[in-house]
Amino acid sequence: MKRLLSAFLLVACCVANAQQLASPDQNLELKFGLSPKGEPTYELSYKKKAVIKTSKLGLEVKGAPSFLDGFQIDKSEKSSFDETWSPVLGEQKNIRNHYNELLVTLSQKAVNGRYIRIRFRLFNDGLGFRYEFPEQKNLNHFVIKEEKTQFALAGDHKAFWLPGDYDTQEYSTVTSNLSEVRGKMKDAVTPNASQTTFSPTGLQTPLMMKSKDGLYINIHEASLINYSCMSLNLDDKNMILESWLTPDAIGDKGYLQAATQSPWRTIVVSDKAADILTSRLILNLNEPTKYKDVSWIKPVKYVGVWWEMITGKSTWAYNDLESVQLGITDYSKTKPNGKHAANTAHVKEYIDFASKHGFDAVLVEGWNEGWEDWFGKSKDYVFDFVTPYPDFDVQELHRYAASKNVKMMMHHETSGSVRNYERHMDKAYQFMVDNGYNSVKSGYVGDILPRGEFHYSQWMIDHYLYAITKAAEYKIMVNAHEAVRPTGLSRTYPNLIGNEAARGTEYESFGGNNADHTTILPFTRLMGGPMDYTPGIFQTKISAYNPENNSFVHTTLAKQLALYVTMYSPLQMAADLPETYNKFLDAFQFIKDVAVDWDDTYVIEAEPGDYITMARKAKGKNEWFVGGISDENARTANVTFDYLPKGKTYTATIYADGKDASYDKNPQSYAIRTIKVTSKTKLQQPIAPGGGFAISIK
Ligand code: NOJ
Ligand code: CA
Repeated sequence: MKRLLSAFLLVACCVANAQQLASPDQNLELKFGLSPKGEPTYELSYKKKAVIKTSKLGLEVKGAPSFLDGFQIDKSEKSSFDETWSPVLGEQKNIRNHYNELLVTLSQKAVNGRYIRIRFRLFNDGLGFRYEFPEQKNLNHFVIKEEKTQFALAGDHKAFWLPGDYDTQEYSTVTSNLSEVRGKMKDAVTPNASQTTFSPTGLQTPLMMKSKDGLYINIHEASLINYSCMSLNLDDKNMILESWLTPDAIGDKGYLQAATQSPWRTIVVSDKAADILTSRLILNLNEPTKYKDVSWIKPVKYVGVWWEMITGKSTWAYNDLESVQLGITDYSKTKPNGKHAANTAHVKEYIDFASKHGFDAVLVEGWNEGWEDWFGKSKDYVFDFVTPYPDFDVQELHRYAASKNVKMMMHHETSGSVRNYERHMDKAYQFMVDNGYNSVKSGYVGDILPRGEFHYSQWMIDHYLYAITKAAEYKIMVNAHEAVRPTGLSRTYPNLIGNEAARGTEYESFGGNNADHTTILPFTRLMGGPMDYTPGIFQTKISAYNPENNSFVHTTLAKQLALYVTMYSPLQMAADLPETYNKFLDAFQFIKDVAVDWDDTYVIEAEPGDYITMARKAKGKNEWFVGGISDENARTANVTFDYLPKGKTYTATIYADGKDASYDKNPQSYAIRTIKVTSKTKLQQPIAPGGGFAISIK
């Protein structure tokens, strides 16, 4: 339903020509206006509390007048929109896209009447706005020097933040007041394979904040296309966040040509933390899918030849040569190192395991030539993505997997050499089609080639989307690691089934994730889209696989199960080794049973950094799964079941922490029990320090 709202509301205030807009439920109020200098400004309130105080909007242009001031309002139009749509894969079957819109046209007399538009969409769960640059005589090609969008905060909020960086989000979240960012920045910047911080108060989005008067505020962006990724820079005297775009190799922040637009800048807000997790505002601000046929896009539960390399038990590389060159090094004449995991016989064991337990796919990393000499050398021609090592028989594995009804999952590590990846892409995707692979995990470890580009530069943003749309031509699903954090693009391009773009489970083997890590991620990283977090580690002591690795998993075993519910992804891995799962088959049953695509999602209780309890209904089935997690503290979860159909009794299997469990002392203690539940049941479920629980209901 599209309906034009009636007359514009004019308000007399400090800003000229002020415009007002309310959310459909009237809780949010937006004001837009011009300062005496003709600077566009906006402010936002929620239930009369300030969310964003008067803040400036605009952009600086290289070698041309800026879009910052000297504006007059030519026109302002209001409209409403209300529609329900269904994602191909998602947390709920039906998503309501309901907003009131204000579109203002602003011109600059002093710049030959050059004009832009700012489009505001006000939903019940927050605000989205973007800059639009219509085609016109006086605006064609232009280069962004900086975007100057401000978010003036109403106080020194508690924030869940990552250091601003042009190359990585693989940092632990720091929880502190904004005024403490500067003092904590140095310790927050831990080493990474590629990293470029830019300011002592630079922050990444999604940025989650909580105000002293109880508002939960999340700032991010939606539909990041042909534009560089936005970070925020904090003016910590005035508590103003300002957009800070990622530059390219020569320091420019975006090459645009009218007609075009910026991504949406998003502010999700509520007085209930649970509402942040159920917000679909970012998806709603993305375009409906452009694909006509989506029947080939399916949820994927997978195992893989992976964790054994991450822990150091095995290697990606076939031998220990220090230098190899594709097409020149004859691997058949070299001596294998004896620890190469991606060999035909071993991969068949994973295929057998996947088939026996009903998994869709098997990922194999380290199958292709070049791993001996790929990292940190800024090597252009590094992998060709089609040449297997001598001990990896592609055709035989294709035949074997197909006979067991299992798909192979491809791995493309680009080593950041992106031109090389694009150079080989068509052949690489065709190779997948020919050999029975329908999904690819890609990766961008290390500094980007062409040298000087950053992981989040406009050129790379264009590459990630190119890789997704090109994959769609081959009906291939993509899960990109080390790529830019998602901004809801999976609505438009649903073959983007996963991303990493945060500290994943791999860090449990590189020293550990904080015990509160996964109580924060759904409020930050997951706001833009699913994460390939790769849970399911039951062997919590890494030294069991590699005596030289003293890391341990900072969760209990039961919490690993809960993550399948609390960390939404239509792509979920059971990341541990088959030999370990075989020792814990009763707990493993939950991973086998849990759905990965959903009709509905219910957040029962949540507080960022502390706990999350949620339930989800499996797509098209009368099955529900509940996950509850805590941070480093023990707690009792209050589990409700009011989402179950009334008057029916169901069997609930509860996978809980053992009485004596804790993430650091006794992580593998768990207990499984069965109870009867109805929609009226209320369950008090204890959680161990760093623990959790999972429930399957049938
Ligand atoms: C980093 C990825 O996150 C990890 O999953 C992968 O195994 C390595 N890169 C090697 O490509
Ligand atoms: Ca990674």
